[in-house]
Amino acid sequence: MNRARHIAIIMDGNGRWAELKDKKRVKGHEAGGRVVKEITTYCSNNKDIERLTLYAFSTENWKRPRLEVEFLMKLLEKYLKDELENYIKNNIRFEPIGDLRAFSKSLRKTIQNIQEKTAHCDGLVQSLALNYGAQDEILRALNSIKNSEKDITEAMLSNALDCKHSVDLLIRTGGDHRLSNFLLWQAAYAELFFTDTLWPDFTTNELEKIIKDFKKIERRFGGLK
Ligand code: IPE
Ligand code: IPE
Ligand code: MG
Repeated sequence: MNRARHIAIIMDGNGRWAELKDKKRVKGHEAGGRVVKEITTYCSNNKDIERLTLYAFSTENWKRPRLEVEFLMKLLEKYLKDELENYIKNNIRFEPIGDLRAFSKSLRKTIQNIQEKTAHCDGLVQSLALNYGAQDEILRALNSIKNSEKDITEAMLSNALDCKHSVDLLIRTGGDHRLSNFLLWQAAYAELFFTDTLWPDFTTNELEKIIKDFKKIERRFGGLK
């Protein structure tokens, strides 16, 4: 049976969730933050799962209204500060991916602090994709190795990426069927699951059901059974 060692999630649908309830979009992000905590804790208690990579803010999300972007930055900082205790209690290591240079000094400091304080944790790795875009990640990786004497190999490029781990199971909530520039290299052989559930309504029960279905899939990786 397959093991979902690395699960990646495109957490989509916060804004629509709020709009359906006649609330401001940011209320959806707040509710979404609570689900991040729930799903992360669930994964940290499932021994099959080694890594959970969550798409929190894309390189394209800067196009949103300034106030929404500012809210998301504040929410992220608050989330990380509030969660430090839980990361440690549940033995979760925090590892950001994405180009953090775009963030404020204060947010970068918080990110670095959580990373350092959880560096010794050897349970689940929770990786938040922050100012992340797969195309940007691949370009930064290529630029960092382009002066090598030898031709670039798959292993060299893979090692130069922010996320060096292939994805087993990729889930997108919110009803759309696209990758929106998420883990394009690492998801080469991921099993893709799409659900209409909006992220703030996503539950550990639904995740459990998806994992159960994932386990039944015959993964061939181009070979034969
Ligand atoms: C995903 O929810 C969260 C982020 C992109 C930060 P959205 O904000 O995209 O919610 P919808 O898709 O507009 O409903
Ligand atoms: C993808 O959601 C990015 C995150 C979940 C952080 P978007 O809402 O930004 O994606 P599009 O615009 O629908 O492709
Ligand atoms: Mg969206």
